[in-house]
Amino acid sequence: MADKTLSGEVFYPTEDAIRQAHVKDWDKMREEAERDLEGFWAKEANELHWFQHWDKVLDDSKKPFFQWFVGGKTNIVYNCLDRHAETARRNKLALLWEGEKGEFRSFSYFALRREVCRFANVLKSLGVKKGDRVTIYMGRVPELPIAMLATARIGAVHSVVYGGFTVEALAERIEDSQSKLLITCDGAYQRGKIVPLKQIADEAVQRAGTIESVLVVKRTGEPINMEQGRDLWYHELMALPIANGGCQIEVMDAEDPLYMLYTSGTTGKPKAILHTHGGYMVGTYTTLKYVFDIHEEDRFWCAADPGWVTGHSYIVYGPLLNGATSFMYEGAPTYPYPNRWWQMIEKYGINILYTAPTAIRGLMRFGEAWPNRHDLSSLRLLGSVGEPINPEAWKWYHRVIGKGRCPIMDTWWQTETGMFMITPMPCVPLKPGSGTRPFPGVKMDILSEDGKPVKPNEEGFLVIKTPWPAMLRTLYKDPERYVQQYWSKYPGMYMTGDSARRDEDGYYWVIGRVDDVIKVSGYRLGTAEIESALVSHHAIAEAAAIGLPHEVKGNAIHAYVMLKAGQQKTDTLVEDLRQHVSKELGPIAKPEHIEIVDSLPKTRSGKIMRRVLKARALGQDPGNLTTLEE
Ligand code: WT7
Repeated sequence: MADKTLSGEVFYPTEDAIRQAHVKDWDKMREEAERDLEGFWAKEANELHWFQHWDKVLDDSKKPFFQWFVGGKTNIVYNCLDRHAETARRNKLALLWEGEKGEFRSFSYFALRREVCRFANVLKSLGVKKGDRVTIYMGRVPELPIAMLATARIGAVHSVVYGGFTVEALAERIEDSQSKLLITCDGAYQRGKIVPLKQIADEAVQRAGTIESVLVVKRTGEPINMEQGRDLWYHELMALPIANGGCQIEVMDAEDPLYMLYTSGTTGKPKAILHTHGGYMVGTYTTLKYVFDIHEEDRFWCAADPGWVTGHSYIVYGPLLNGATSFMYEGAPTYPYPNRWWQMIEKYGINILYTAPTAIRGLMRFGEAWPNRHDLSSLRLLGSVGEPINPEAWKWYHRVIGKGRCPIMDTWWQTETGMFMITPMPCVPLKPGSGTRPFPGVKMDILSEDGKPVKPNEEGFLVIKTPWPAMLRTLYKDPERYVQQYWSKYPGMYMTGDSARRDEDGYYWVIGRVDDVIKVSGYRLGTAEIESALVSHHAIAEAAAIGLPHEVKGNAIHAYVMLKAGQQKTDTLVEDLRQHVSKELGPIAKPEHIEIVDSLPKTRSGKIMRRVLKARALGQDPGNLTTLEE
């Protein structure tokens, strides 16, 4: 592979990277996977523990409701913890954690299993049963992965809501999942300030109306309201005799639900992506092992939040399945100074750093002197995820952080895919800004509107043509929407919602979303959510939100609002509206810019034409306007 000449700017893998890589020839691996897809995944699945072997690797008889490892019995938590805690790995560090204020905590595999079992016993004593949904709304503290793993250990389904979301987003997700239990923290540290998580949770619990108990982890120690008969302290329950002893693991069917995770879609309410124990386990285990080339001695840092799929798959499940050491940091990258990340890499000897382009661009602004003060020689591999990485940021990351030695794994995937889909491996020549090619066994294509593959370098719709084990199984309680949203545009193919092009070497270049999803700092937000938050303000009749390019965030939200009849435009209205959205959805959804307008461009059927607003804002030609109402 290394001797093949590729077009454009190419970074060839170093001999070192190839020498120690698990995979040295990915073309061969791809050919094998294509020849026998089921055999390829079965080989990986066989490295994990099954209480009962599966009958069939892939059942596509009810497609697009694919099933994997049919008849197999397992529990992902057994493979994350018990499998290691019962071997010589029991003393190896599973989780390392640093708090924003500098505190340090760590858990060996043995200790983590013990904590998870203890908390699982607490959950059982509160009446949580197999199949129940548990909402988790916490800061980045070790109790967050502990809560996820304890929930899954007893067969319940976790629904983690990102701690940066606020009242409305949380209430909606609690209600939709019909959770009776909420696990939260008194507060979370962020940039030296305290985010009042419990206070937000109280308001959301009141709006949602399904929660019977709230479990509270003490993090800040600030005074909070504890409602008698509903709210309980985590540390008090963990100190009770009921928490002690082991906790029998629930034997799960491979296809039993593991978790749901809400993500923004094109219309209306956020949808709950459903992942299962068996296939998701095999997919995250395999992709992390080969892409980040996990070795026994590695310390792996995925700097995402556990509240997003990146954190689910690659802070919690993937690293633990691989018996690796996963590092987690509570706070902001630049707190108290812009060298915080580099300091921690040096201090803990991190070998692999996986983060988002927006974070890289944000840190780049502070200049090279900050990272250059630190010894970053432990780093071996770097990663990027969340949005396309611009070549300048890629090269800065490669040169300044990776010192030109560390290949960058630019991984394209989605909440829905559960695992990396387009990604290099350390043995692969890289082109800055391209995720290279699909993971072995994954077939993708780029299609024109009428479903024909486009020519090299032409833009089109990115689709997935083969099932993969970590794929979403459905949208919770909404199988029709699952079919309609992902599988109806091109029969038999999964529609990603992204546009992309493929160059003459077969490398994929993802361009961005083609639907009403905006990626702000890598976070996924639906225009519909932002608009409904704006319209919930008393002065607003209608709203439209679009994403416009932003130097650090990738995209920033711009909103256009129409006032209700009789409402006056006041000096503070725009700022009020920004605060209102921030309070309802969270600071990440706060619009950068709001303009008060007299009318919004709509189709004759009443749909807002956001592309017209976008074209206007960018000074471009709005294109076909035949459906525009007067
Ligand atoms: C969307 C999915 C999966 C982890 C985090 C995001 C964009 C993601 C890349 C990448 C270009 C990327 C796509 C995708 N995206 N990774 N490496 N290059 N774009 O998960 O919130 O479900 O968002 O993120 O637009 O569809 P998500």
